[in-house]
Amino acid sequence: MRLAPPIGHHAQFTQHGGNPFKFTFSDNNERVVMSRLAVVCGGSRGIGRAVSQLLAQRGHRVVVLSRNKEAAQVTAVSLPGENHLCLSCDVSKEEDIQRAFETISKTCGPVGYLVNAAGINRDALLLRSKSEDMLSVLHTNLLGSMLTCRGALRSMLSHGGAIVNIGSVVGVKGNSGQCVYSASKAGLEGFTRSLAKEVATRNIRVNLVAPGFIRTDMTAGLEKEDAVRRIPLGRFGEPAEVAHAVLFLLESPYITGQLLLVDGGLQLTL
Ligand SMILES: NC(=O)c1ccc[n+]([C@@H]2O[C@H](COP(=O)([O-])OP(=O)(O)OC[C@H]3O[C@@H](n4cnc5c(N)ncnc54)[C@H](OP(=O)(O)O)[C@@H]3O)[C@@H](O)[C@H]2O)c1
Repeated sequence: MRLAPPIGHHAQFTQHGGNPFKFTFSDNNERVVMSRLAVVCGGSRGIGRAVSQLLAQRGHRVVVLSRNKEAAQVTAVSLPGENHLCLSCDVSKEEDIQRAFETISKTCGPVGYLVNAAGINRDALLLRSKSEDMLSVLHTNLLGSMLTCRGALRSMLSHGGAIVNIGSVVGVKGNSGQCVYSASKAGLEGFTRSLAKEVATRNIRVNLVAPGFIRTDMTAGLEKEDAVRRIPLGRFGEPAEVAHAVLFLLESPYITGQLLLVDGGLQLTL
């Protein structure tokens, strides 16, 4: 695990109702946005990278987290705004997550937003699936998200916050050749709803975004024409289009325990 050096400087901290909020300022010194500390797991590439970019554009300070520290750093450095960080952390490893959240709380303060976009697939028919691949998928996609939520909650309990987990339309509808991946994503749905109930009284909201086919490294090897025929909107989605849904849920103060499909209508045809 590695913490990148601060990339710049933010404006200032102010206290509101006991909560540490951070604001950025426009050129004429007007307060333009309330900034929060946002941790994006799987923030180096694909959907997580698009989420990191959008959060940074909104004036939030972002901690980009992924296994590959160079990739996380490249993303953190590319973000608009200042003071973003990167951490190398494997979310399938509990000790990595513990270390990451200890570092974040010591060096950056309380987490306001958590986005769980770290994910892998090892698609195969169940009969051909290797046990180690099944464990990797479950540990990364499901247990990893549970553990990062637990890590972030410790600091959210006193200040409130919002979490978005990234599921999949496959978790809702199922798909041949994706039994384990589908189970990991369906598990996230139950987890998200239960956690939303558990922490609502502490002003912490938990929601799930379930994408369909999105143009990232994860779908790079797919036979695109076949897939596109099944999508009512007739195209793959862009990571930025998922990021907009994530931001919407992070910022919507009266939505919790919700699943939002971002799939070009794919769920209608499956
Ligand atoms: N693309 C789609 O069509 C699609 C559809 C539905 C759902 N999703 C879900 O959306 C999420 C993002 O997918 P994507 O398409 O953006 O994938 P991607 O382009 O392959 O990016 C995955 C990200 O997760 C990180 N990651 C993977 N394993 C990790 C681990 N053990 N610990 C920490 N970080 C890890 C990767 O960085 P490192 O490799 O450096 O760790 C990378 O930043 C996933 O949960 C995926 O299941 C994607």
